Amino acid sequence: MQRLDRRQFLGAAVAGGAALLAPRVLPVARPSRRGRASSLADSRIEILLQEPVGTIAPEIYGHFIEHLGGVVYDGVWVGERSRIPNTGGIRRDLAEAFRRIKPSVVRWPGGCFADSYDWRDGVGPRDRRPRRSSLWANDPRFKDLGDIPQRYEPNAFGTSEFLHFCRLVGAQPYLAANVRTLPAQAFMEWLDYCNAPAGTTALADLRAAGGDREPFGVRYWGVGNESWGCGGNFRPEEYAEEFRRFTTWGLPEFEVPLAFIGSGPSGDDVEWTRRFFAALAERRGLDRLWGWALHHYAGAADAGADAVGFDERGWYDLLSSADRMDSLIATHWQVMREHDRDHRVKLVVDEWGAWHTTKPLADPSHLFESQSTIRDAVVAGLTLDTFNRHADKVAMANDAQLVNCIQALFFTHEDRLVTTPTYHVFDLYTPHQGAKAVRTVIAAPGITWTDAQGHARPLWGLNGSASAREGALTLTVTNPHLTEPREAEIAVRGGAVRSARATTLTARDVRDANTFDNPRAVAPQPPEVVAAAQPMVYRFPPASVTRLEIALGG
Ligand code: AHR
Repeated sequence: MQRLDRRQFLGAAVAGGAALLAPRVLPVARPSRRGRASSLADSRIEILLQEPVGTIAPEIYGHFIEHLGGVVYDGVWVGERSRIPNTGGIRRDLAEAFRRIKPSVVRWPGGCFADSYDWRDGVGPRDRRPRRSSLWANDPRFKDLGDIPQRYEPNAFGTSEFLHFCRLVGAQPYLAANVRTLPAQAFMEWLDYCNAPAGTTALADLRAAGGDREPFGVRYWGVGNESWGCGGNFRPEEYAEEFRRFTTWGLPEFEVPLAFIGSGPSGDDVEWTRRFFAALAERRGLDRLWGWALHHYAGAADAGADAVGFDERGWYDLLSSADRMDSLIATHWQVMREHDRDHRVKLVVDEWGAWHTTKPLADPSHLFESQSTIRDAVVAGLTLDTFNRHADKVAMANDAQLVNCIQALFFTHEDRLVTTPTYHVFDLYTPHQGAKAVRTVIAAPGITWTDAQGHARPLWGLNGSASAREGALTLTVTNPHLTEPREAEIAVRGGAVRSARATTLTARDVRDANTFDNPRAVAPQPPEVVAAAQPMVYRFPPASVTRLEIALGG
């Protein structure tokens, strides 16, 4: 633990970089009327209640399921006749645990799969639906696994099953349409199937015949996925043409206003954003665009890519890679403004997560599944905090993916289920949904780590976000230091603290992981009371994610 004098403290405030939306001079620790500032504090957090950033869209706490590996089959869907407890074929333990963290929105059916999927294969009586080769069928990892649903899509889980899943867990649906291999007509008809009142169209009647008289009222529609790659390998101008064809005129709206999401860039590909916006604006197509999807996966090099066996460099490498989200949002936002001066179009980060290279846990068909540790939890915490801080720009975000894949919240296999550290982060962050993000200034001693090329690289020492709603303030903070705690004075400007409690997620060993046999190796500690002083003092353990719930008032 380091102690800082005033000069060092201000230096650290600047080194803490990413958290400082605008560097400010912060006062040094001073005893307050209601409590004493800690003489050990090396960090400071100021929450500025009078400086709102925007309302945090609940949709920022969104998820993603794709017909890929063990996500749908063995993950969400087990089938009605399964011995695994289910609700209409949907795995019951997963639905119950998922519902508890208030999922706001779920994206489906892909990902890359979306641009090969014909929604008509997945409607009507289940026993009459066709089997099709899956987009992922040729993956060499499936070679010896036989005719598994990951290779030959049985279409048992189709549109109505997905929409039932959303209803069961209380989430809004977000459907991704096929732009690569289906015409715009099929898109219109999918809208009809989902949203037309029974008795009005043949497709609405097909839905009603399956038991769903009430329209599903789907609002969010993705127009393709990664259209610069698996979704068609388009040029931005070509994709702008497609987007216009799919969204211009005559789409059946019914009761629900439709929100179309364009397939945005991967990472820092600003030319994709710039050229698409220019091409769409040229033909006055921007008013059909509600959201612009950005994808960013965090990854570490070399040994760091191992989900569990990472070294110190792998730890910081992954966190730094995830932390790029902050500048990606800022950069694309700036470019979008070149043609959307009032920022009517918002960002939708509909795929994010930490992607490791290691093997599936229990079932080799679970493509892109790898174990999850507190390192992934810190990735989740710092990413969600980034979205909160950009609440004025980000309208939706979707963790990739919900179960058995990339940054999963659950692992399942046959009748077993376990929640990951990322699940616990989503749980801790639920109070942010729909609350007002307020500016938060954090100063902490910065971290320097050495990358694979031997270059010294900086990382901030503490980061987080705060939001307020009806006298309740939520502060979430990640401490990315592998070994050092950070003791912070926390000052709330513009409000009095009545009481506070902290819940922290950390691990005994940063390589600990939750398994089917040891499901709570990484789980939050019970909440602890924090003395209600101004400033409050809290010690953030190393490698941790913390939520402070602060009651405000007299
Ligand atoms: O999430 C896995 C894959 O990653 C998705 O199918 C694709 O959109 C992305 O490249």
